[in-house]
Amino acid sequence: MPGAAPDAAAPAGTLPSDRAAARATLVRALQLAYSGELGAIRAYLGHSAALRGRPERAGLRTILVDEIRHRRRVGEMLAGLGAAPDPAAERKLDRIGRTIAWICCWSGWFVPMYGAARLERDNVAEYEVAARLAWWAGERHLEDDLLHLAEVEWDHERWLREQAARHLLWHVAPYGRVPPPREEIRARFRAFLAAPTPVEPRRSLLFR
Ligand SMILES: [Fe+2]
Ligand SMILES: [Fe+2]
Repeated sequence: MPGAAPDAAAPAGTLPSDRAAARATLVRALQLAYSGELGAIRAYLGHSAALRGRPERAGLRTILVDEIRHRRRVGEMLAGLGAAPDPAAERKLDRIGRTIAWICCWSGWFVPMYGAARLERDNVAEYEVAARLAWWAGERHLEDDLLHLAEVEWDHERWLREQAARHLLWHVAPYGRVPPPREEIRARFRAFLAAPTPVEPRRSLLFR
């Protein structure tokens, strides 16, 4: 039931079982997203440098600017919830982002495009989960922004996947699931509002 108190709709014994638990889970999801955006910024700076002189560089710089905006917006959300970034996650993703940036400089054209597309595919789901957690937590003012973040990550995944698919190696590198159409992000959220289900926090490949 849209707008109902989460504890009234939550099946007993499921996650999140009450508003406070949902809020704590949302804060953790946002902390990981905030640091994930830092990793993305570092990685795309390296990727962009590796594309110097290539026509794809402009598209990649657009994605880089999006990630900078995402980090700022997620930081505002955290502050609005009275929370702060997690220093350990910040250090970890800074290290990972710098490592990926370094790899981009010698791994050739395909690997960074392919790898970034796969990471962006994860990001779509992470922001969708965060939007659901915002609902459970009663922080409904965050839902639209979180769904928009998921949509922009969807745009990133598609652009990067389309670039990677132009390369011969694409035909021997299994990609797995291609995300469903962009408009389904909001359709899935509407379906969730119509019949709320428990939300399991997602953990990006980078946080496992
Ligand atoms: Fe992002
Ligand atoms: Fe992205």
